[in-house]
Amino acid sequence: MRMRNKKNLIPRMEKCAAVQVFVPADMKGHWADLLPGCQEVRAEMGCGKGAFTAGVAQAEPDVLLVALEKVPNAMVTAMERVCAEDIRNVRFIDTDVVNLPDIFAPGEVSVIYINFPDPWPRKKEAKHRLTAPSFLAMYWDALPIGGRIEYKTDQSWLFDWSLEQFAALGYELREVTRDLHADGPTGIMTNYESRFYAEGVPIHRCMAVKTREEHAPLPEEPRRRGREDTVHG
Ligand SMILES: C[S@@+](CC[C@H](N)C(=O)[O-])C[C@H]1O[C@@H](n2cnc3c(N)ncnc32)[C@H](O)[C@@H]1O
Repeated sequence: MRMRNKKNLIPRMEKCAAVQVFVPADMKGHWADLLPGCQEVRAEMGCGKGAFTAGVAQAEPDVLLVALEKVPNAMVTAMERVCAEDIRNVRFIDTDVVNLPDIFAPGEVSVIYINFPDPWPRKKEAKHRLTAPSFLAMYWDALPIGGRIEYKTDQSWLFDWSLEQFAALGYELREVTRDLHADGPTGIMTNYESRFYAEGVPIHRCMAVKTREEHAPLPEEPRRRGREDTVHG
């Protein structure tokens, strides 16, 4: 179902134009120039309403955080939060993550955050998951050796599936946990995460580190066999 446009979406976005990058390809290889004294460029895939985005940026003022989001109705809330709090080290891009190779130069991003991505539970939809092999290959190219993905989800089947994809492509898995907040709130929470935490839903989290130059070959696309509509897989 298509989300109805929030009231006054366009004027609200225009008010936050200073934190939005409209032609991200022009910044490819030069993102660090946007923040004087920038020590690192990081990127967030699907930032939603931006609680995590703002939290990370405030905690790490020397980091430029580039937040990608394909739904402007959600992104405008994130942009307003960043503008209201006068946070200078975030930029937003209204785009789909598939465009990542046009946005970042090889090795430009030291950390990629993927928080509570849409699960796409049906097997035939698996290629849309943000931890599908084709996405993992794009992240690989954007990361330097030693760079990492930080991944969180509430969906245990998706976490298991994602761990397999990370490992198959050649990422080294670290700090794998199936209950991040077992000993109390840990790290900066996203909007979704705060809700799950309040409901007592365990959060799965891992880091996937790029430790070598080349990733393993991508798996071949599965051949379509009639009406294949299995859940998960
Ligand atoms: C379940 S929400 C989680 C939002 C936020 N990360 C959080 O944890 O609160 C997933 C978000 O990712 C965005 N998203 C999903 N797939 C995307 C894609 N391919 N490109 C850009 N954004 C995407 C959605 O629009 C949505 O805002």
